Amino acid sequence: EFMNEIKGLSVLEKQIKDKLNIEKVIVVPGNSDHFEWVKQEMGKACVSFLQSVIDSKDIIAVTGGTTMAAVANVMNPLDKTNNYLFVPARGGIGEKVENQANTIVAEMARKAGVNYRLLYAPDPLSESAYQTIINEPSINETLQYIRGATVVLHGIGDAMTMAKRRKTPENVEEELLLRRAITEAFGYYFDAMGNVVYKVRTVGIQLEDLNTIDHVVTIAGGQSKGKAIASYFKQGKSNLLITDEAAAKEILKG
Ligand code: G3H
Repeated sequence: EFMNEIKGLSVLEKQIKDKLNIEKVIVVPGNSDHFEWVKQEMGKACVSFLQSVIDSKDIIAVTGGTTMAAVANVMNPLDKTNNYLFVPARGGIGEKVENQANTIVAEMARKAGVNYRLLYAPDPLSESAYQTIINEPSINETLQYIRGATVVLHGIGDAMTMAKRRKTPENVEEELLLRRAITEAFGYYFDAMGNVVYKVRTVGIQLEDLNTIDHVVTIAGGQSKGKAIASYFKQGKSNLLITDEAAAKEILKG
């Protein structure tokens, strides 16, 4: 029974890899829409992957969300040198504090026994505030680390779910509907073809930065995110997708 289950998952991994054209896919059993432990299983897969690649001087940039919080929950030391660093990929985002990148980064660093830097910037930012803030020394210092990130861990959200959770202004919500936004990641909203249809002004990792980062790890599961994941991978750059069985099956239906 157990061996059949494992075999089933590796078949799913291969099918997702081919369908979405991703270097590496890991599928864990279950549906994270219903069970929190499924997010932690994705987290454990992420920690094992990091243990195989992290070196001294690596900088790991992390986004927010409940999935990333679950990864933090199961974080462990990644390398003997203890000389790598966690940084948030972006500022605060109208989310509960436990879902914000800063909180998650501090928890990951504590569990891994290494240092971290925080980013005290609101998100979204107005254009004028943006120009002032990026020149603020304490913020600029963290931004330098973020620009040097060698690893990115990020979540993917269903566009309208994320817009609501982050208390997005009504006119922006209408625009997202009009432009048929399906996915949100890094403050970017994408349509079904993977085109960027809206972008929140943020300090931190920008989509084009992903092209030069060694390891981009996407962690997202649950049947409800199937379409969002498929749309993100139309154009999104990621080396590894860690997902669950329910999302994988939903992706293959589409
Ligand atoms: O950008 C995507 C969201 O951070 C995903 O949030 O992990 O709580 O679904 P979630």
